Amino acid sequence: MAVERTHDVIVYGTGLAGLRAAVEIARKSEGSVNMGLVSKVQLMRAHSGCAEGGTAGVLYPEEGDSFDLHAWDTVKGSDFLADQDVIYKFVQQSPEEIMLLDHWGIPWSRDEQGKILQRPFGGHSYPRATMAADKTGFMEMQCLYDTLNKWPNYTRYDEVFVTGIIMEEGRFAGLTAINAFTGEMVVIRGKALIIASGGAGAIYAFTTYSHTVTGDGLVHAYRTGVIPLEDMEFIQFHPTGLVPSGILMTEGCRGEGGYLRNADGDRFMEQYASGMMELAPRDIISRSEMTEIIEGRGIDEPNGLDHVWLDLTHLGADRINSRLPLIREVCMGFLGIDPIHDMIPVRAVAHYSMGGIEADINGRTRVENIWAAGEAACHSLHGANRLGTNSTAECLVWGGFTGKEALDYVQGGADLSPVSADQVKAEEARIFEDLMKRRGSENPYEIRRELRTVMTDCMGVFRTGELMQKGLDKVAELKARFANIHLKDPGRFYNTNLFHVLELENLLDLGEVMLTGGLAREESRGAHSRRDFTERDDEKWLKHTLAWNRSDGPELDYKPVTISHWKPVERKY
Ligand code: FUM
Repeated sequence: MAVERTHDVIVYGTGLAGLRAAVEIARKSEGSVNMGLVSKVQLMRAHSGCAEGGTAGVLYPEEGDSFDLHAWDTVKGSDFLADQDVIYKFVQQSPEEIMLLDHWGIPWSRDEQGKILQRPFGGHSYPRATMAADKTGFMEMQCLYDTLNKWPNYTRYDEVFVTGIIMEEGRFAGLTAINAFTGEMVVIRGKALIIASGGAGAIYAFTTYSHTVTGDGLVHAYRTGVIPLEDMEFIQFHPTGLVPSGILMTEGCRGEGGYLRNADGDRFMEQYASGMMELAPRDIISRSEMTEIIEGRGIDEPNGLDHVWLDLTHLGADRINSRLPLIREVCMGFLGIDPIHDMIPVRAVAHYSMGGIEADINGRTRVENIWAAGEAACHSLHGANRLGTNSTAECLVWGGFTGKEALDYVQGGADLSPVSADQVKAEEARIFEDLMKRRGSENPYEIRRELRTVMTDCMGVFRTGELMQKGLDKVAELKARFANIHLKDPGRFYNTNLFHVLELENLLDLGEVMLTGGLAREESRGAHSRRDFTERDDEKWLKHTLAWNRSDGPELDYKPVTISHWKPVERKY
């Protein structure tokens, strides 16, 4: 029998967006609204803690920055696929979020006069990355968690793995989840749900993401059949993943003045974006790096991860120690090199999903009591390519909006929906009687490895129709093999083997959605760069992709882009 718990609002995912939503609910209701915070890891281990470089926001309009500039940079960075009304709402709210964190005690980096520092970042025409050295995400998480504890009317469900969303007559009713400690199924009922469970980057082999970022919340929303995933073909490759681990070398390295060099020592960005050089947007730099490598000007690596160099050696010890201490520590710890004296081996690395759960400008999905925030959501803010530091800002902004909306909803008298015992029994049977008893011949870890490889090979920085079709065929094969997996651990207590299998099932569905969307989109735009359709095609493709879950796979549909201020023009840097 499943254990049942009940809350007013459930926050699924406890990274920046989830914690910010929880703080909003707690402070606006003065702790009177009861929350359940659900995470498959311990709360502070959410992947947001790995965010490094900063949070974008216009703090100093009197010095020349403006909402219009931030909005234009974001529109152009998105290759005109972002919704411009959403962008305006975002740029106007972001500075307020930065100041809220300041008032809640975050140790922002400051200059000698005590003024909050901002550094340059790729694609931004003004230095507006607000940072806590190169540990911004961790400091933001810590600050939000401290703040939340002023109103501790919440229950933490740490290491509780969500398996699905229960719907009742078109509304959210509860989550089914497995408590890792007991192995029991828990039904967590709520009047409102905020999904803030992060992206899906662990689907790639070379990635900055933690292994836990497997798109669970995205798939659970998708499987309801009434919420589509949007723009999932747009995956961001960050230009500077440390070789061979993939650990993020923050763009802040280049914001502080770092260079990218090829094997000849040349600053190759001169050839590709002479205006912005190393601070061009990520899609452009990643393509430039891969072109250098493909054309033989990279540095060979026996593991196949040929690379270019990130050069900080001209910055000096003081700047590196004060602004990039984590980068130095990681380089010394993982490679035994010191960026004060040595160049860093880097290459383009899977980093962010521009797409996600379709949500409106306030973060509400098509279901009246489900919202989505952070990387799990697609508010159409980033379009085809996100600018660095717009994501932590997005988490804060839509964490706040969705928290407020969910609070208004429950304070407006919303009721709990009933949960059908049959649905819960069916979910228990699916997991404990079927998945857990599979003793076939297929190793799920091998399937996961093959999935990561095929996504890297077929849906990387450059794609073609042929490659993506090959990828789709392979995912179909892997799905068939998944039916015949061998789940080794038969126990209930802390069965990570089971959780890895559930994650794999989620990743397989997501791979199919990403490849299907990419294959259909016959143009190049932002991070979706096709060798067989090299131009942006506004006539046919200035539209958002929606993927709906159907019994025979994803069904695609499209919706228009909101162009309220700027018509698309050629994108040059
Ligand atoms: O490079 C970075 O620090 C990453 C920032 C971001 O993805 O926004």
